[in-house]
Amino acid sequence: MKRILITSAIPYINGIKHLGNLVGSQLPADLFARYNRARGNEVLFLCATDEHGTPAELAAAQTGKPIADYCTEMHEVQAKIADGFRLSFDHFGRSSSKQNKELTQHFAGRLLDQGFIKEVDEKQIYSHADNRFLPDRYIEGTCPNCSYEKARGDQCENCTKQLDPTDLISPRSAISGSENLEVRTTRHLYLMQSYLREKLNAWIEEKRDWPILTTSIAKKWLNDGDGLQDRGITRDLDWGVPVCKGGQAWPGMEGKVFYVWFDAPIEYIACAREWVDAGKGSDWERWWRTDKGADDVSYYQFMGKDNVPFHTLSFPATILGSGEPWKLVDYIKSFNYLNYDGGQFSTSQGRGIFMDQALEILPSDYWRWWLLSHAPESSDSEFTWENFQTDVNKDLADVLGNFVSRVTKFCRSKFGEVVPSGGEYGQREQNLIDNLQLRLDAYQNHMEAVDVRKSAAELRAIWVLGNEYLQSAEPWAIFKDDPNAAAATVRMSLNLIALYGQLSEPFIPDASEILQSAMGQDGPSWPESVKDTLGQLKAGDVFTVPDNLFTKITDEQRLTWNKKFSGLRD
Ligand code: 2FM
Ligand code: ZN
Repeated sequence: MKRILITSAIPYINGIKHLGNLVGSQLPADLFARYNRARGNEVLFLCATDEHGTPAELAAAQTGKPIADYCTEMHEVQAKIADGFRLSFDHFGRSSSKQNKELTQHFAGRLLDQGFIKEVDEKQIYSHADNRFLPDRYIEGTCPNCSYEKARGDQCENCTKQLDPTDLISPRSAISGSENLEVRTTRHLYLMQSYLREKLNAWIEEKRDWPILTTSIAKKWLNDGDGLQDRGITRDLDWGVPVCKGGQAWPGMEGKVFYVWFDAPIEYIACAREWVDAGKGSDWERWWRTDKGADDVSYYQFMGKDNVPFHTLSFPATILGSGEPWKLVDYIKSFNYLNYDGGQFSTSQGRGIFMDQALEILPSDYWRWWLLSHAPESSDSEFTWENFQTDVNKDLADVLGNFVSRVTKFCRSKFGEVVPSGGEYGQREQNLIDNLQLRLDAYQNHMEAVDVRKSAAELRAIWVLGNEYLQSAEPWAIFKDDPNAAAATVRMSLNLIALYGQLSEPFIPDASEILQSAMGQDGPSWPESVKDTLGQLKAGDVFTVPDNLFTKITDEQRLTWNKKFSGLRD
């Protein structure tokens, strides 16, 4: 039995995520967690909400609620939607937890002791009207390069020039619009990542099996231009983890908090502690401290490509710099982007389909199957309603659903709701078993390698084999002359349904549960050998005919949804 730690990038608290976010982190992480549990491995699967930072503060301000209340409410909303998608987290934590506060302050203290933190005086823009320092992107003004009037302090989105807020002509606060701004000196902590460059480089060099997408991004940031930049890990904000070292005050840092990207990945660790404190587990250090048993853990992270630098460089720098025996990630699975109908999914613009909306129109298995079987692994991929309708109807309704319905209904009408006896298996069944075993081996190999699309393709091929078998054996045609031969085919086909229930669970857990319970199976047990598994339902065992597993998406529905989701969400 292996021990597998899995974390998905933790979604920002402000707002509901779109399907592009889902397929780039939480969903493939769930697939991998479910697969490993089904294989009998010990899995700890963690996710959380990422609750700090200016966007969270501003989103809360817009609702008029205190930020802590806003975060509590939005955490519940996200947890409920995650549940709707059957994301099987062992714990869904919160980066604003006391556990994360304590660990974040602990890491900062260690990094200081080990010589990886410097205090730097910076000039920053202070807004009198807002009574706060403004992060670069919350300062607007006219671009000195192209005269665009709504350029942001970090970049002009019109001409793409990288800017410094002090470059802007007539700068104003993007929060209040006030021009009453002042440049003030403020002191911040910097994590001296550049000191760890050699160590990080050597560590990444070892990771020969990582996806190219992950290593290419990591190497680009390590080696391009100035190389690994030291970065500010504190901010002048009210909301966040207060800057302390261990439990001690940090002179000069009063009223400041850690930067959201410093505390967010530490929440991966804190979340395990939350899991224990919530009474769901008993020993979090066994997963996270290599001196306390975590040396035999395999740790997998899942994320979109924009998150890769933080996970290949910044978070490992925190861990390595601490000088303590924390577990480092073993495998980083990263994803390209899913586009929406000729453009990009966009949270800020409300473009695309959001997780809550998706569940309002179709059950989660439809989305899980389509998204995973089109996961943007080697390049960006695109959601279109035509493609969604065609693939879901074909794979789920025609191939899998139709097989289940034909077999169970035919059996009920000829033999009753019991596995029929009589007849013997012959060459056709032997061929089927041989082919299925090859496919199953390939399916497992792809799953172990976290090749999501290839795994989906194998599973689909496994479903197709059942259809081909049934089509060539034609029990409905031979029943009259040779009911025993028809009985053998049906017996084999009912066993195939039970097998499908087990193998499909990581992708489509709800349908799998229906199949397994219809075939009288309780819970996923992974088939070690196809031959043995296809003998698990014996003549005389009872089953039930499941309701229609998947209803086809009609042209009318496609057109309605296409129209409904063509505009921007409020
Ligand atoms: O991109 C995002 O949604 C970030 N909230 C991901 C953070 S992952 C990690 F660092 F915790
Ligand atoms: Zn410009």
